[in-house]
Amino acid sequence: MQSASYRLESAWQPDGGPDGRFTFSLFNLSDRPIENFTIVYTSLTRVIDQKACENATFVKRDANYHEFAPPAGFVLAPGAGWTFAVSGLHRKAVHCTDGAKSAYLTLSDGSHVAVAVSDLLLEGHVSEPPPVLLPEGKLDLPFALQPWPRRIDAEAGEGLPVCLYPAAGASLEDFRAVDTVLALFRRLFEADHVPFSLTPNSQGRALHLERDAALAPEGYELSFSANEVTLCFGGTAGRQYGLTTLAQLLNGARREPAKFRFPIRGTISDAPRYSWRGCHLDVSRQFYPLSDLSRLIDILAWLKLNIFHWHLTDDEAWRLEIKAYPELTTAGVLRGPDGPLLPQLGNGAEPVGGFYSQDDVRRLVVHASALNVEIVPEIDIPGHNAATLVALRDLSDGQEAPESYHSVQGYANNALNPAVSFTYEFLEKVFDEMVELFPSAYIHVGGDEVPDGAWLASPLARTLMEREGISGTFGLQSYFLKQVKDMLSKRGKKLAGWNEVAHGGGVDAEGTLLMAWQTPEVGIELAREGYEVVMTPGQAYYLDMVQAEAWQEPGASWAGTVPPAHTYDYEAEGDFPEELKHRLKGVQACIWSEHFLSRGYFNRLVFPRLPAIAEAAWTPKSEKNWQRFAAIVGLSPKL
Ligand code: ACM
Repeated sequence: MQSASYRLESAWQPDGGPDGRFTFSLFNLSDRPIENFTIVYTSLTRVIDQKACENATFVKRDANYHEFAPPAGFVLAPGAGWTFAVSGLHRKAVHCTDGAKSAYLTLSDGSHVAVAVSDLLLEGHVSEPPPVLLPEGKLDLPFALQPWPRRIDAEAGEGLPVCLYPAAGASLEDFRAVDTVLALFRRLFEADHVPFSLTPNSQGRALHLERDAALAPEGYELSFSANEVTLCFGGTAGRQYGLTTLAQLLNGARREPAKFRFPIRGTISDAPRYSWRGCHLDVSRQFYPLSDLSRLIDILAWLKLNIFHWHLTDDEAWRLEIKAYPELTTAGVLRGPDGPLLPQLGNGAEPVGGFYSQDDVRRLVVHASALNVEIVPEIDIPGHNAATLVALRDLSDGQEAPESYHSVQGYANNALNPAVSFTYEFLEKVFDEMVELFPSAYIHVGGDEVPDGAWLASPLARTLMEREGISGTFGLQSYFLKQVKDMLSKRGKKLAGWNEVAHGGGVDAEGTLLMAWQTPEVGIELAREGYEVVMTPGQAYYLDMVQAEAWQEPGASWAGTVPPAHTYDYEAEGDFPEELKHRLKGVQACIWSEHFLSRGYFNRLVFPRLPAIAEAAWTPKSEKNWQRFAAIVGLSPKL
């Protein structure tokens, strides 16, 4: 990429205001002076007191979009800098990623030019050693398995077979299953030696595949001998997991022979701890090409995770093609200096968009289901709909006062209105198309973070509340979500949502699965109310959170600091009362993308915590071992 002719550097001073102060310096690296320009930057640390700036004038803010102008008549000469300061922040900066994520200039002729940004510096900061996030680790058994199996009683051999091949009598289904894991391995490890061959090989070992109805559908058993391996499996998923285990064993032994070996005798007997072993990805805040999603699903399958929760819509963009409403993926995704949506969270002078066509979705669903990964799509409603409401103006109550409420992310009036009849017509059509695309049992409808006070300035909502005897925002939310649940039931789908779905009376708990993200305690409360629960607490399983307290550590911090060891050790069952444990369906990693501006950043934050959650999802508590995990996780594929 060409380097920009302008650079914005910034520092945060803790004592410059109630929540500190930003000092920005814009450098002109071009050959020309500029004047009559404005600067835009995007930052999750928002300016809420517009007057509190020095040597600049506040022009506009929209969520994370901030625009400032220099003093009248100011000329920024080539090689010179313009320094301005901003206090009146809505919270303190805590890490180097809490400053500007992107910037651009609007010049006097209306054109927009890119500005490079630097990480936020902490004024007065002394150099700190990098935190140790992962110890070297220690192995008791020399096997490269992750997640670790339920039971292993195996002895390591000297050397290893060149490959494993289906023994005589293997069925077409068996060959296909071997081929699927062989292809998965090749995609994940492009330059490593493949673990399987379809033809017998004199230096390989024969692999007997046998279905065993006594095993759970996801369960399998392996027996090793010097000449052959037998894989018994309960169902297609169990067969895939058994083959994946073999591929992991061979790959580890080949890549790090001093550490890992292949068994010569003994058994592995395995089945998952939880039925819901999920990973969520927010593709609204940042767009990920389909090839990235396909690779992420490959990684999930390798880690024996079985749910991909696809967060397709949010305030920043609606990314799912809906043929009835093409505006959603034109006006509802395009962000640029000249609109229709303003730049946010890393967007700059160039307009950006991106959405998934229905053909893309079909392709990804086929890819995932071949790997026993179910895609659970989410359209986040009624909150988090700033982009939707720009795309489809008729979804708003035209009489509602502008800026009558703000979301925690700073978006004004961003929730679908339960009193607008078009809201339901819109959703019926959206669900009609979604159920054709997604075979999953659940559709996730969000339900999170509707601001208390939403809709109360909407005359239509007021009338509805009076007519139906509904009180408050969450009474309205419950009224709305009950109808959404009916829409899904009519289409043969169950409702999944975030924990706030239960607010204000919630929905019928029967067949409803909620994700406890705010705190671990919320999960127990939901189970008590009769909901099925998946634990995704931000304090352990939000992979956008920082991994150490050091200023230089990248990431968000509102849910706390989440070192990999903490993610690994966290026990979702924790304080779950015995009689409610049957409602705990499993656990899930959540990857929120506000900060995720590059693949390097993604890998730095997601690994090793995603494999840590995969092990928590699969391996019984008694078999978890952080030191062993740390010794193996270096083998894990990354995006
Ligand atoms: C959420 O983090 N708002 C579910």
